[in-house]
Amino acid sequence: MSISRIGRRWSLLPAMLCAAVTSVYAQGWQHVGNVQSVEKRNDGVVLTAGSAKVQVTFFRPGIVRVRVAPKGAFPKDFSWAVIEEGKAPAVTVKDSKDQVEVSDTEVVVRVKKSPLLINFEDKQGNTVLADEASLPMAWSGERVRVWKQMPLLENYYGLGDHPGSLNRRNRAFTLWNTDSFAFQESTDPIYKSIPFFIGLKEGKAYGVFFDNAYRTNFDFGLESPFYYTFGSEGGELNYYYFAGPEPKKIVEEFVDMVGHTPLPPYWTLGFQQSRYSYYPEARVYEIAKTFREKKIPLDAIYLDIDYQQGYAPFTVNREYFPHFEQMIGDLSKQGIHTVLITDLHIKHDPDKGYLPYDSGSKADVFIKRADGSLYVAPVWPGPSVFPDFTLTRVRDWWGPLYKDFVGMGVSGFWNDMNEPAVFETVTKTMPLDNRHRLDDGSSLPHSAVHNVFGMQNVRATHDGLLKLRPNERPFVLTRAAYAGTQRYAATWTGDNISTWNHIRISTPIMLNMGLSGYPLVGSDIGGFAGSPPSDLLTRWLELGVFNPIYRDHTAKGTANQEPWENTPSQEPTRKRYIELRYRLLPYIYTSMEETSRTGMPLMRPVFLEYPQLVDFYTDDRDFLFGPDLLVEPVVTEMIDAAELKFPTGTWYDFWSAAKFTEKDHLTTKPGLDEVPLFVRAGAILPMQPVIQSTSETPVGPLELRVYPGENCRGSLYQDDGHTFGYEKGEFLRVNYSCVAAQGSLTVSSKGEKLGYQPWWKDVEMKVFGVESKPREVRVGEQSVNDWSYDEAGEMVTVHMKDANRDWTASIRY
Ligand code: GLC
Repeated sequence: MSISRIGRRWSLLPAMLCAAVTSVYAQGWQHVGNVQSVEKRNDGVVLTAGSAKVQVTFFRPGIVRVRVAPKGAFPKDFSWAVIEEGKAPAVTVKDSKDQVEVSDTEVVVRVKKSPLLINFEDKQGNTVLADEASLPMAWSGERVRVWKQMPLLENYYGLGDHPGSLNRRNRAFTLWNTDSFAFQESTDPIYKSIPFFIGLKEGKAYGVFFDNAYRTNFDFGLESPFYYTFGSEGGELNYYYFAGPEPKKIVEEFVDMVGHTPLPPYWTLGFQQSRYSYYPEARVYEIAKTFREKKIPLDAIYLDIDYQQGYAPFTVNREYFPHFEQMIGDLSKQGIHTVLITDLHIKHDPDKGYLPYDSGSKADVFIKRADGSLYVAPVWPGPSVFPDFTLTRVRDWWGPLYKDFVGMGVSGFWNDMNEPAVFETVTKTMPLDNRHRLDDGSSLPHSAVHNVFGMQNVRATHDGLLKLRPNERPFVLTRAAYAGTQRYAATWTGDNISTWNHIRISTPIMLNMGLSGYPLVGSDIGGFAGSPPSDLLTRWLELGVFNPIYRDHTAKGTANQEPWENTPSQEPTRKRYIELRYRLLPYIYTSMEETSRTGMPLMRPVFLEYPQLVDFYTDDRDFLFGPDLLVEPVVTEMIDAAELKFPTGTWYDFWSAAKFTEKDHLTTKPGLDEVPLFVRAGAILPMQPVIQSTSETPVGPLELRVYPGENCRGSLYQDDGHTFGYEKGEFLRVNYSCVAAQGSLTVSSKGEKLGYQPWWKDVEMKVFGVESKPREVRVGEQSVNDWSYDEAGEMVTVHMKDANRDWTASIRY
């Protein structure tokens, strides 16, 4: 039986089972009733149904917003996430007896009147997303909920960091930021809440953003195979529908709505070494020295909570670090940036000269209990208080706390525990009725603010750093997040475990983060809890090359986990991969710059570029890194062989330049030093010589790897790597292309913007897939001799002087 026939039969079942539907979510709800009146607006309609009002309006072309006010009065329109102005397209409203139709040039929203049910259709009249007929939108006390039909072949992605497979179908999720030490594949929730998902079916996608910061939950078919449902324990029923149908368009539009990741400092894309904790300072020097002696590239060392006095944020333990300032300077001289942890909890330490407490107390910045008393609870420093980051004046108080560290030359800051984590309580966080004050003088209970608390914490840090160093791009690392937190901070996947299963599940977590608008992510390389066997650490250091943040981190009491640890014979392999990361930095930084503009994540599920390829819909292992690299990493102990498959087109093996197509399904057993890595035919990849840190100027030419194929292009973006000069045009962008004709292949370079003088002048171009020795190579009109042919590798290497602007080079057969 064909899938579509099964689909048709299944689609009849909901109606048959309608009477039998007894959803746990459906119990006790008041469902919206019939539409009694329709008020037309420029951007859509407001419907009255009993006591309720339902607003269906266009936010932007192809983006529809639905708001429900059960008692008829909409609260003040407010969002922690949405920063884009709504700008409705021309909207047509057709009101008839049974239905109201609201449309723009991309979407038709058909609202049935009795009862009120919302259908989103494309312009060809196909239903894309529809309310479940037996379960109209509903509320119960403070709770709100919707139910949507769930087609048999539809898959779901996004929702932030929930562990488990990439595809969210057949599972249910709670969104509630939670400190989840040593989480498992089945642990839910963990640290972040991003209530945005993409539905994808047979190459077509739509998106939904349920902008509600209370505890929300999403059930994609656990409750019923026929519908999915999402709702919240409070706040507004307020969601956006993105018509797509390209998944890429949806991610980009969502990022436009909630905010882009700013271009990070270049050094943050280098290798970073961390542990809980490096101390005393002699150990920090030893780590730095070992990297440099072994010539393993490194850009950052992290200091975890033990550098502090009694774990009190913004202090330094002078017994462990008597020459703290000098150490930061010495590291910096070696091209190593220091990142300090500065958790948000402030030690409850009255009258001891602890400035963050005393000044905070004086300025009344700390969160209060429902009864108005100061909320004090244990975290790392013991009894602690918590700044009320929802207030602008509190964020303004927090920022200057970084002044001394910034003055010492500390490069980045790590805001951990910002769910917020609280010890010695089963809820792992503060009481839900604690009060958060708002700028307008009102206040909200913690239940309304919990999921954005970490976001407001890193907002304060980010904005504070910008004030202290106005022309330096801040680097902040956060653990908790809500939609849009990427505006302020990079993130990592929290306290994972040193097991093979954890390296495996790190990829779907990061891919779903990227789809949720959050591209700058990493996982603790090697695993946080426990100690990795040697092969696992090696594999993880290999995988990390293709993670946006590449940071080795581990917990207290675990074995050392630096790249040279546990099996000396594996050190060369680990070093080679860290070097590969540095060789790829021109490509990575160029791709990151694209990410900061468009929202397209660096780590992309294959379907984001190739939505038709259903084979990749449930692929938890493979991904694209930037637009042109396909990574099929080894994330198992390799007892079994690995299956390799390819998206449409031709793909070159990065190592051997062998060519594969989508017809090839291979089984291989990569050695411990091999990562299956492929390049899209048609890619032009900029690479550079190995450096020991991003502060070092590479010696030698820019390497340009040309992989001829369709849509042959590449580009290179460079700037000073740390200031905002690029916003004023101080950057370099060179675009490359290649064209194959009868008997020749021509590669062109075109400088689009020459506002920055790069380190390189000369180019070493490597053209792959050249099957026989060329007759001649020309640069411009000139026949040149500075080239060679590698017959076994089918590769031509051409050396070009002064080639950082416009040129053409042709290879003639
Ligand atoms: C939390 C963090 C971890 C850090 C530790 C000590 O567990 O997730 O990364 O090392 O706290 O600060």
